[in-house]
Amino acid sequence: MKDFINIADFSGEQLKGLLERAIVDKKLFRAGKLPASCRRKVLALIFEKPSLRTRVSFEAAIVHLGGAAINLTNADIGLGSREPVSDVSAVLGRMCDAVVARTFSHETVQGLAEHCSKPVINALTDYSHPCQAMADVMTAMEIFGDVRGRKLAFIGDGNNVARSLAILCEKLGMEFALACPEGYELELDVAQTRDPREAVEGASIIYTDTWTSMGQEDEKDERIATFKPYQVNAELLKTAPKDAVVMHCLPAYRGYEITDEVMSAHAGTIFEEAENRLHFQRTLLGVLIAEGGIN
Ligand code: CP
Ligand code: NVA
Repeated sequence: MKDFINIADFSGEQLKGLLERAIVDKKLFRAGKLPASCRRKVLALIFEKPSLRTRVSFEAAIVHLGGAAINLTNADIGLGSREPVSDVSAVLGRMCDAVVARTFSHETVQGLAEHCSKPVINALTDYSHPCQAMADVMTAMEIFGDVRGRKLAFIGDGNNVARSLAILCEKLGMEFALACPEGYELELDVAQTRDPREAVEGASIIYTDTWTSMGQEDEKDERIATFKPYQVNAELLKTAPKDAVVMHCLPAYRGYEITDEVMSAHAGTIFEEAENRLHFQRTLLGVLIAEGGIN
């Protein structure tokens, strides 16, 4: 598989193998022993939406591997307006060694992959955020060891992050439960409830994300009112197992989906998750660019 677009495209074994490798590579990197497998390789980054973690982690990762990145905003390239997605993709495939894209429409990333001779990585679409889910489960593996049978409770919107996590949990033999208001469910066949307390029961990981994703800014006020009962706070955590960790993909909106108190208490895990974006994606780039894909 040359691209990394959907978690669903891979087997549980492939995904677990990638995660275990990322954990080993992280240690090698910290010891200064990770080989620079992408010398003189060029990574094109396309961003239709804002980003801190994704942009910095991919740029840093390719530099760690001996390559370089070129950041392209939509104002630069006019993806689908100045030029068709297929032409942009064909050109990038001839000049670069891999393409990372964050787009509104999932079809745009799929279109890039279809017309590109080089690996294309999904850096978030309205539909999914696979690199985030992988870094999150990598973090859980570092904390708990084997994650099979562990439960992840997602409190909030059945959004792109929730969807990628739900599919990854299923692939890895983890339990997944979503607590969300009516109308914000996932279309997947997973445990879903209106009651956050029911979701966190027996959970090892309590996960939340913004109530208003990028592109939904017009719905912000309505969403704040609807999602109010779905805050991850100290009261909710009383019903969760004592060793449960709290995760958030960031950016976090304190006082909305998570309290300042819970953010502070679980900052160690949450910022490790953010850092693991770098470690997971560095391994992913090495596998896709230097080794020709995921086997
Ligand atoms: N979590 C995440 O993807 O962060 P950015 O939007 O800042 O890249
Ligand atoms: N669900 C959020 C994730 C941000 C990393 C969004 O799409 O804006």
